[in-house]
Amino acid sequence: MNAVLPPRKLPASVVEVWQFDLDMRLHPGIDLDSILSVEERSRADRYVFARDANRFRLCRAMLRLGLGWYLGANPRELALTVNEYGKPRLRESSAAPHFNVTHSEGLGLIAFTGVGEVGIDAEAVRREVDALEVASAHFTEREAAMVAAAMPEEQAGTFLRLWTRKEAALKAAGVGIGRGLSAFDVSRTPDNLARLSGGSEGSHETLWMVRDMEVIDGFVGAVAAAAGDWSIRQWPIRSEDAIDSLIAQFDKLLQYAARSRPPRHNDRNGKGGKLQSISREADAPPLT
Ligand SMILES: CC(C)(COP(=O)(O)OP(=O)(O)OC[C@H]1O[C@@H](n2cnc3c(N)ncnc32)[C@H](O)[C@@H]1OP(=O)(O)O)[C@@H](O)C(=O)NCCC(=O)NCCS
Repeated sequence: MNAVLPPRKLPASVVEVWQFDLDMRLHPGIDLDSILSVEERSRADRYVFARDANRFRLCRAMLRLGLGWYLGANPRELALTVNEYGKPRLRESSAAPHFNVTHSEGLGLIAFTGVGEVGIDAEAVRREVDALEVASAHFTEREAAMVAAAMPEEQAGTFLRLWTRKEAALKAAGVGIGRGLSAFDVSRTPDNLARLSGGSEGSHETLWMVRDMEVIDGFVGAVAAAAGDWSIRQWPIRSEDAIDSLIAQFDKLLQYAARSRPPRHNDRNGKGGKLQSISREADAPPLT
């Protein structure tokens, strides 16, 4: 089994990025719906095209599995909510791991970190984007000049590189792109400090470090988090075996919890309760 997964302890000063193919064929035994909440299942059911529904299911299941992995918690029982602009977060905790999701065509990426709020964006490089027009309408003068100065065959890539930096910063702030793209500049490379005012936490100005990220051929990506000395570590989740293994390990944890806990008074099956409080070092069976 080829199931390479990151270590369960989130290192300090690192943003870990899980990267996976949203069109990955899964083992027939993997039931992603069993990991999702009722709302998530009904959102999946509302997609018109089966491919979009399946991509959403896999991406959301990976988010839950990733959070469960770092928290030592049952992915099925994690309560997620969103801020006023739609940024998902854990309902009961504003502490680590912070996370953010992006998907572009068949590519899914999730950033997890203890550094603080994080934003991630990836885009497929499409030649048909009118890079010059959009840049001059929505970017800063300096950014638009950078796109204009690129060789014609590189303009789409340069434009999208700047776009992903901007979107990553706005997603870190939790506000999305409705706030306007020209209010801050991300034209300096390779690391960039983006100064944004009016994030989801209030009206004060926040400094975000924006870093480019190599993704796969044909895509560009960027990550933003609090200004500081952090780096990006990428984890390509290459096979369905990794997902299978994650789910199997959580099932092992569930069985362990059922054996080691007195049943709750309202738990008719006697299967025990939440896993949230199991300390992975002391109480939990060893996970890979
Ligand atoms: C966030 C936003 C930039 C994402 O754009 P996108 O390029 O289509 O999508 P991406 O693939 O990069 O990211 C989507 C993911 O970002 C996350 N996300 C959603 N809103 C977010 C926000 N405000 N900040 C950070 N992340 C957000 C979600 O996880 C979403 O995926 P999911 O819904 O499948 O879980 C865009 O949706 C936006 O600007 N939203 C704000 C809308 C708003 O202002 N609403 C006000 C209330 S109506």
